[in-house]
Amino acid sequence: MSEIVGHVAQAEYPDSIYIVRKPESDLLLGDILKIRDRITKREYLVRVYNAYHGLTSISERLASLATKVPKVASTIKSEHFYDVYVASPLCIIEHDAEAVKAFPAKTLPTQLSPVCIPEVHDFGFLKDLEGFDLPLGLLRTRTTGGERNISICLKGEFIPRHIGVYAITGKGKTNVVLILLLSLLKSEGNYSALVFDAHNEYYFGSVKLRGLREVEEKFEGRVKRYDLKEKYAPKISPHNVAPGLLRYIMELSEAQYEACLAYYRKGGENWILNILSETNAIQRGEISVPTITGVRPNTLFALARKLDLVLDGVVVYRQKAENDLVKAVLEDLDKKCVVIINLQDLSDIQEKIVTNILSESLLDERRALQNRDPSELGRKPIVLVVLEEALSVLSQSILRKGDNVFAHIVREGRKFRVGLLPVVQIPRRLDEDVASQINTNIILGTAQQADRAFIAESAQQDLATLTNEMKMLDVGEALVSFPAEVPFPLPVKIFHFNEYAEKISETSSITPARKEVKTSKTEVDVAPPSL
Ligand SMILES: Nc1ncnc2c1ncn2[C@@H]1O[C@H](COP(=O)(O)OP(=O)(O)O)[C@@H](O)[C@H]1O
Ligand SMILES: [Mg+2]
Repeated sequence: MSEIVGHVAQAEYPDSIYIVRKPESDLLLGDILKIRDRITKREYLVRVYNAYHGLTSISERLASLATKVPKVASTIKSEHFYDVYVASPLCIIEHDAEAVKAFPAKTLPTQLSPVCIPEVHDFGFLKDLEGFDLPLGLLRTRTTGGERNISICLKGEFIPRHIGVYAITGKGKTNVVLILLLSLLKSEGNYSALVFDAHNEYYFGSVKLRGLREVEEKFEGRVKRYDLKEKYAPKISPHNVAPGLLRYIMELSEAQYEACLAYYRKGGENWILNILSETNAIQRGEISVPTITGVRPNTLFALARKLDLVLDGVVVYRQKAENDLVKAVLEDLDKKCVVIINLQDLSDIQEKIVTNILSESLLDERRALQNRDPSELGRKPIVLVVLEEALSVLSQSILRKGDNVFAHIVREGRKFRVGLLPVVQIPRRLDEDVASQINTNIILGTAQQADRAFIAESAQQDLATLTNEMKMLDVGEALVSFPAEVPFPLPVKIFHFNEYAEKISETSSITPARKEVKTSKTEVDVAPPSL
């Protein structure tokens, strides 16, 4: 057993274990400590979440209690009670010959049990978690075997239960998403990602943070980037825009929406082009009224003006697609690609068109497959949809006005192997139903108590005692709460993308796909395996 740093002074259910430290030892807020019960020999992992220094009512109470227990009084002096640390139980660990197992802590440790810094192997239960295949960082806790050597991963199969990333600017949100994308690319699992890149940084990087361009060579064309403003970039065909979708993109009056539905029923996917050509025909005097009875000319004119905004020639073609973005992206997603859509420089409405139509088309395709061939759906890659600035579509105030495709992904994504990763700066503005459906929470530094309370409230694991720790998170430091299997929320130091990418570029090991491609001897000779 490693060096003793303190003793249990008292324990109160459910989550207050008062610890007095040995005078020469250091205890820190957020420390995970091990208590070995002096009677039952059970081993507890606990997390320090509060401290009282000086002569407080708690220290006085504990000191006076201690005098009544002779054994305590002889071991701990009353001045030791000036520094009282409060910890919550995380789990009970059991070592057997092969492994370490963790169980919920349903008992509390006996008074005066010794407290120490855990050893690396006390966290062995994290290594045995099955299917946790997407490295994120290292466990951020002190161990006697050195810090930061226990790798923490997310479970790819849990992506459709959604992953929330919360922090104020500059705390490492983009970095953690990049790490996750790189882990998806590296993994042998069946994953792809659709990234709505609000600041044009995921591919090219920014001043201090590199982008996926750095590693794309390693992944055989699996990193794709679309910039709709580039000259020959594929765009959206007007045929991809259905009336329901138009309502997510812009406000329509009831009469206008009714007209959309009527033209859709009549002309199918040509409905937008039909409305526009009919409006032209009326204006030129070729016909006098709309061909659909009940639709008033003024309604049609107003609708045509709105549709003109949609068919802007930049993100949506004015005619049927020559080079269809939706088709290209869906094909990429089937091929385990990370698809980055640059949204920078797009107007609000253009951004809405692109994000809504691509996401809805993905859901539509999978919905259709579920009806036609569920087993085929099971073979499709799990898609992670990354949404920067997620509050613009998932805040309470937005969803109060009506549903949208991102709320659908949150609710139904699991059925279709699609998961959402909303990046959120002010968590308290997030819709509560949406937040409660997000099963994995990556909490980086948050600014306000109300935000921390909101996250703690909606998470599946108990985060109540972690709100103080959330306040002190430095850049790249996270608390990660999991949907299941991991016994408690973990403190993690997220890998830095620049270093992770460099390591990947340096490795001479190549992906299986690359190995297959390199068949000719000459090619191997000219191109070194380091790429
Ligand atoms: N895990 C980390 N380790 C070290 N530096 C980091 C880490 N995460 C982010 N950084 C650095 O912090 C800065 C801000 O990161 P970024 O991901 O852009 O923050 P955000 O998206 O929250 O504004 C960048 O310079 C980045 O290199
Ligand atoms: Mg960012």
